Amino acid sequence: MAAIKLKSEDDLKLMRPACAVAAEVLEEIGAFIKPGVTTRQVDEFAAAQIKSRGGKSAFLGYRKYPCHTCLSVNEEVVHGLATERELHFGDIVSVDVGVLYKGFIGDNAKTFAVGGCGVAAQRLLDVTEQSLYLGIAQAKSGNRVTDISRAIQDYVEGNGFGVVREFVGHGVGRSMHEEPQVPNFVDPKSNQKLKPGMTIAIEPMVNAGRPDVKILKDGWTVVTQDGSLSAHFEHTVLVTDGEPEILTCATKTLSKLKVA
Ligand code: MF3
Ligand code: CO
Repeated sequence: MAAIKLKSEDDLKLMRPACAVAAEVLEEIGAFIKPGVTTRQVDEFAAAQIKSRGGKSAFLGYRKYPCHTCLSVNEEVVHGLATERELHFGDIVSVDVGVLYKGFIGDNAKTFAVGGCGVAAQRLLDVTEQSLYLGIAQAKSGNRVTDISRAIQDYVEGNGFGVVREFVGHGVGRSMHEEPQVPNFVDPKSNQKLKPGMTIAIEPMVNAGRPDVKILKDGWTVVTQDGSLSAHFEHTVLVTDGEPEILTCATKTLSKLKVA
């Protein structure tokens, strides 16, 4: 197993802005999404937003992934492809944005309601987002990866929803996927100790129904087996001596970071 790459202050001088770009772009996409736009238009908008900030999509070309972002609608869980599909009022769309900027990657995701959505869908979004923050709160030096996993799993299952097992969070830095894996369920194999300088993407994928998923014939799109709705929220987080630092925070904009 590859070693965990702890980030130095110099690394973080580059990684913070990379994460700020990813967060800004995700926020811009949220404002762009409305009934009638196609997921292709969302992806093209995202590409332009990333480019205008001097970044590159971390996803395009990764294992031959063909789009700049992942756009997963309703029962799609993750890795949804941009298509001519129009978004309709009441749909939910999970947007995953990974940006390469000055050699480092920021990775974040959020599920948006298109125009608005029903109460059941809104509850799924709320529980998934809250599970992410409960997981982040455990990303403390001295804790273990399983503390993050347990916080997410307990909250999601306590609310009657299913946690996806097949896809997990991960270390992130110069590469999109570094050690350790960060499952959203307790997996005794993923019990590394958390140390200051670790940067991890925590990303619960939560199904309204059963946790089981399958991959569509396009080779990418992951959907729920039972057709239930699914939501996905993700932040890149820095483990410190004290409170975890959410790096993909849209309020930490590039301009506020005073990046040269
Ligand atoms: N955030 C996702 C992940 O960490 C996105 C990867 S999409 C891919 O795996 F297309 F690049 F694979
Ligand atoms: Co990720």
